[in-house]
Amino acid sequence: MPEDVAIIEELRRLTRETLNYRGPRGILAGLVHEIVGILQSVAYFRIDEALDITEGETACGQGLAISPTQAAGCADEFLRTAAFLRGLQGAIEEALDSNSGRPVRVLYAGSGPYATLAVPLMSLFSPDEARFTILDLHATSIESVKSVVSGLGLDQSVESYVLGNACDYMIPGEALPDILLCETMSTALEKEPQVAIIRHLLAQAPKAIMVPESVRVDAFLVDTSKEPVIIIPESDDPLAKWQPDRIDMGPVFELNSSTIHSWNPLAKERLPAATIHMPQPPEPGYRPFLFTTITTHGEHVLLTHDCNLTGIREIEGISAGETVHFYYRLGANPCLAFEAREQG
Ligand SMILES: C[S@@+](CC[C@H](N)C(=O)[O-])C[C@H]1O[C@@H](n2cnc3c(N)ncnc32)[C@H](O)[C@@H]1O
Repeated sequence: MPEDVAIIEELRRLTRETLNYRGPRGILAGLVHEIVGILQSVAYFRIDEALDITEGETACGQGLAISPTQAAGCADEFLRTAAFLRGLQGAIEEALDSNSGRPVRVLYAGSGPYATLAVPLMSLFSPDEARFTILDLHATSIESVKSVVSGLGLDQSVESYVLGNACDYMIPGEALPDILLCETMSTALEKEPQVAIIRHLLAQAPKAIMVPESVRVDAFLVDTSKEPVIIIPESDDPLAKWQPDRIDMGPVFELNSSTIHSWNPLAKERLPAATIHMPQPPEPGYRPFLFTTITTHGEHVLLTHDCNLTGIREIEGISAGETVHFYYRLGANPCLAFEAREQG
């Protein structure tokens, strides 16, 4: 068997296993690591260990575009990568069912240097089933994805490459995507431009299936001594060892297609979020935190501590007995913020 045929066969096998595997986390970590190894082996981009990982990042008006090096590092976040691959597989199958025979179009905004969330699925879905547009702000990443796709003989699966800011991208009217795939976010939707990108693209393709379909942020009062805040070894399920004690203060914000359609499309400074009341803690040591839950598609969900994106973020500046009104601040440093403190 020629070498490239052997590589693509291996990628297909590992992708199938990753999509279907439901056992201990350590094995899933190994499967994703092998997939990433294949992408890296054909990629033009190489991580330069001597370089500061922030070197090459770009501060945009809608949030930080992390550097190609940092974006490459996301690939090995195995639960994240597996949940997105599974979610995208489900979304493609759903779109195929309603597409009257034409290939499903996936617009992948923020591909990073390996297009990790798409290339493995190109090995499973033929170009007659799914075609991808690959977009990133960084030329290094786009050039690298081209090398990965060509190196694996998957050129027919890519409709086009776009180098530019996703928040300015005008989707060609004759090629509206069926699926919008985007992972340009950080914990609690802070710093990076996920919200701005998805709002801009969904306005042009309002019927597209979003992957992730929802990013929800909730507030909890937490006994930090019972909460895993350290990096959890990849083989451990955090809830197997820890018995967190969390007092629910309610949902704060959700990014999904119905909230996006409900927001004023012209809003440039802020988006609405919930009002939260912080109760008296039962004991000292409880502090308020934002929790993030990501549903990539259907049943595929990333829960607290599954990956860096679903770590917890302390809410600074709120005290017991106060009620605060949250909003989502748009702009160069997006995040959830609050105002108008009231007692009681
Ligand atoms: C968190 S990384 C994810 C990389 C890859 N999708 C993955 O999941 O492994 C985010 C990527 O989005 C790109 N990005 C961030 N903001 C962008 C923007 N406004 N327009 C286009 N690409 C952007 C960054 O350059 C980076 O490659």
